[in-house]
Amino acid sequence: MKALVFLGSRRKSSPPLPARLGARVSAFLLAQLGNRFETTLVDPLDYPPTDIFKPAFAYSEQAKPSHLSSLESLVRQADAYVMVSPEYNHSMSPALSDLLNHFPSSAFAFKPSLIATYSSGQWGGTRAAVSMRTFLAELGCIPVSAMLHFPHADQVFEQDGKLALSQDETRWVSYSKRGTEQLYWWAAAASHQRTVADPFAASPAFTRTPSERNSPEW
Ligand SMILES: Cc1cc2nc3c(=O)[nH]c(=O)nc-3n(C[C@H](O)[C@H](O)[C@H](O)COP(=O)(O)O)c2cc1C
Repeated sequence: MKALVFLGSRRKSSPPLPARLGARVSAFLLAQLGNRFETTLVDPLDYPPTDIFKPAFAYSEQAKPSHLSSLESLVRQADAYVMVSPEYNHSMSPALSDLLNHFPSSAFAFKPSLIATYSSGQWGGTRAAVSMRTFLAELGCIPVSAMLHFPHADQVFEQDGKLALSQDETRWVSYSKRGTEQLYWWAAAASHQRTVADPFAASPAFTRTPSERNSPEW
């Protein structure tokens, strides 16, 4: 099983300090996923935003920028996704939503995702997490029921993603395992079912315009 871990921050600012807590949370989750998945980190710093927004599916295959092509292949080959997001103004991070918006839902569909949010404050990104459910459901990578929230991430994790000495490692690992095991179960089930029945035969990918979603009334 292959899992992509999306690091939802490209912040480089001071304040707030320290920079990019998302790097710590992602490193911790990569370690937790390691016994179940072959993991790849997707860092938005490797996919810098452009002046204009042009999704990958708006290019012809020949004209598609190579960094978008290679990330799209990774997305299509993956069996599961972990979406790591800070909470920015009670919402998911714009770096994450912008990156995901570049790819068609068919690249993510019929596979599970795990929502993992964090903040430097006490709520651990829970408000962002709730809205991520609808976003990810629309992409077709249905979020598993367990969500992971990491409040005070600057105190919970060291810079390398290891838990701080003050933390109860057993509890954090078992808390995270609930999410990663749910992800693994659904990823294995979906992977098997994709070999039994082509999901796009019964539910074809949208390929032309957003109006393909419209009900007949429209
Ligand atoms: C624009 C902005 C909005 C923020 N909004 C929230 C928020 O709504 N809730 C919260 O708990 N923390 C909020 N924070 C604090 C972030 O949780 C904190 O800066 C965290 O380190 C961001 O993750 P990052 O370091 O990986 O970018 C916000 C930070 C920024 C820069």
